[in-house]
Amino acid sequence: MGKDVIIACDFASAEETFKFLDKFEGKKPFVKIGMELYYAEGPSIVREIKKRGHKIFLDLKLHDIPNTVKKAMAVLSRLDVDMTNLHAAGTRRMMEAAIEGLTKPDGTRPILIAVTQLTSTDQETMENDLLIKEPIAEVVMHYAECAKNAGLDGVVCSPLEAGKVHERCGSGFVTVTPGVRFADGDKGDQKRVMTPEEAKKIGSDYIVVGRPITAAIDPVAAYERCCREFIG
Ligand code: C5P
Repeated sequence: MGKDVIIACDFASAEETFKFLDKFEGKKPFVKIGMELYYAEGPSIVREIKKRGHKIFLDLKLHDIPNTVKKAMAVLSRLDVDMTNLHAAGTRRMMEAAIEGLTKPDGTRPILIAVTQLTSTDQETMENDLLIKEPIAEVVMHYAECAKNAGLDGVVCSPLEAGKVHERCGSGFVTVTPGVRFADGDKGDQKRVMTPEEAKKIGSDYIVVGRPITAAIDPVAAYERCCREFIG
């Protein structure tokens, strides 16, 4: 898997998104489209960004009964995205069904990764709300192994977990890590952060970077700095 910087395009409309992407002129960064933008604009936003030549991570975090996820993934597969995801909590059967739905007639499919426990969930909320009593780090690793056994390609995890995920699931198991900040930058609402350089050292395969690029005075320079520090 190639190392890359994925820009989280957390914009509310196509207009704002294109205004941002136009700044990159000839460059075609890998972009993440999340729920806000997708639900606002529908599948046409994916087609339009794809037409402009960008790779796309469609971050919709599917979680439903296996049959529904299989059929939804078949629809997403036709959008020809490069990466998409689901919740590992949907169980191994749901993940296997997702792969079936996502796989095209020619046998190819986008990279499929799992969300383990959201970083907004901590030990206390996991125990109280979900009634899961194991240590959260162990739960994250268990979900990662479950995703691997179901045939998925990797997980979304904090950069701090990426090394451990590779230890448990192998170096070929992809880690996609948000929560990246420049050493001299603002953390915003992210609590556990790493610089692109640290994420590189710990072995993250992809970093997902939003505001350090989207809210920068010069987003192109911020993106280039990120690539320099992460890819080298
Ligand atoms: O702006 P920022 O760099 O914090 O954006 C990070 C992106 O990664 C956002 O789109 C956010 O929803 C996503 N994300 C995250 N933490 C997770 C999973 C996804 O920050 N655990």
